[in-house]
Amino acid sequence: MQAIKPNIWNGVIREFQEFLPKVKDDSIVTLREGNTPLIEAVNMGEVIGNELKIFLKYEGLNPTCSFKDRGMTMAVSKAKEEGSHAIICASTGNTAAAAAAYAARGGLRAYVLIPEGKIALGKLSQAMMHGAAVIQIQGNFDEALIIVKEVSKAYPVTLVNSINPYRLEGQKTAAFEVCNHLSFAPAYHFLPVGNAGNITAYWKGYKEFKEKGIINTLPKMFGFEAEGAAPIVRGYAIKNPETIASAIRIGNPSSWENAVKARDESGGVIDMVSDDEIIYAYKLLARDGIFCEPASAASLAGVIKMHKKGIFKNGDTIVCTLTGHGLKDPDTAIKSSDKPITAEPELSKVVELLGF
Ligand code: F0G
Repeated sequence: MQAIKPNIWNGVIREFQEFLPKVKDDSIVTLREGNTPLIEAVNMGEVIGNELKIFLKYEGLNPTCSFKDRGMTMAVSKAKEEGSHAIICASTGNTAAAAAAYAARGGLRAYVLIPEGKIALGKLSQAMMHGAAVIQIQGNFDEALIIVKEVSKAYPVTLVNSINPYRLEGQKTAAFEVCNHLSFAPAYHFLPVGNAGNITAYWKGYKEFKEKGIINTLPKMFGFEAEGAAPIVRGYAIKNPETIASAIRIGNPSSWENAVKARDESGGVIDMVSDDEIIYAYKLLARDGIFCEPASAASLAGVIKMHKKGIFKNGDTIVCTLTGHGLKDPDTAIKSSDKPITAEPELSKVVELLGF
C-alpha cells in the first residue's frame, strides 16, 4: 500500500513566517489563504502569439475569492494580538468581504463602508453573510476611505485598509509564491491598480527575495488603471472615477507614491486600459478556462496593449495577477455573454437547437 503523502498548507503567516512580522501563534486568524495556482495561458496565441510565456496567478482561488485574504490574515491577526475587538474598512467590495470573513473567524466585529450600488453582488453577499455591519455610502470609495480613517483615529477600532502596514506584508507573499513556483522571477509582472497597495506589496516581496539571494533578477512592474479611474497615469486625483471594473473605481489611491516608486525602481510602467479592453481580456481569459472579475483582467489587457507596442522579446516570462474570482460579479459576466436558449423539454426541439 502506498503511504499517504501529507500536503498541508498552513496559511501565509505560518508558511512565510521568517519573512513576516511575528504574530503570537494563538492570535493567528487564518482560513489557509495563499498557495494559489500559477496557471500558464494556453489559448491566447491568436492574440499574443506563442513566443511569450504568460502565467496567471489566480488569486480568485483564495478563501474569500480574492487576493485580499493574504493581507487580511495579517491585519486581523495583529489586531487580535493587540487586543482590538473591532476592525473597519472602506472598500470597493473585496476588502469588505475579506474583512468580514476574517473578523468573523477571529471573533472581532467588522464595520465596512462601501459605495452604494457600486459593488459587485458576490462581494456584498459575502460581507452580509459573514455578519459585518455594512454601511452604504452615497458617494465613492475615496470618500468612504476619508471617513474610516477619521473613525479609526477617534474610536477603538482598527483600520484594515492597505494603509495598515500589515496588509501589504501579507500581500507580498504572492510574489514569494510566484518565485517559488517558477524557480526564478518573471521578466514582467502585470497587475491591476486601484488603491495601489498590491503593486507596492509585490514589489516589496520581490525585493526581499532578491536581498536574501533567493532570486537573482527582479521583474519590471507593470500596473494598469482603468481609463476612467486613472489618477496615477493622468497625474491628478479623479473626483468622479468611472469604470465597469468596480473593484478599481478609485480616484485618489492611498499608495500612489509607493506605486510610482515600484514602477520607477523596477523600470516598469503604469498605464491605463479602457473598459472595452478590460472586457475583451476578461472574455479571453474565460475562453482559456479561467474566470476572473473584470478588474483582474486589466492585467492581461495591459499585456495585450504592451504586446501591440512590441516591448517583449521571444521567450519572456510574464506573470499576470488575476486578483479576484469571476463569480464575485455575476452581473457583468451575464451581460458580457450570449443569452442561454430556452427550449421545450422535447428531444427533437433540443436537437434542432443544437444544430446537429
Ligand atoms: N483587483 C481587485 C479584484 C480588487 O478588489 C482591487 C482592490 C484591485 C484589483 C486593486 O488593488 O487597490 O491594491 O491597487 N480592491 C480594494 C477593495 C480597493 O476595497 O476591495 P489595489
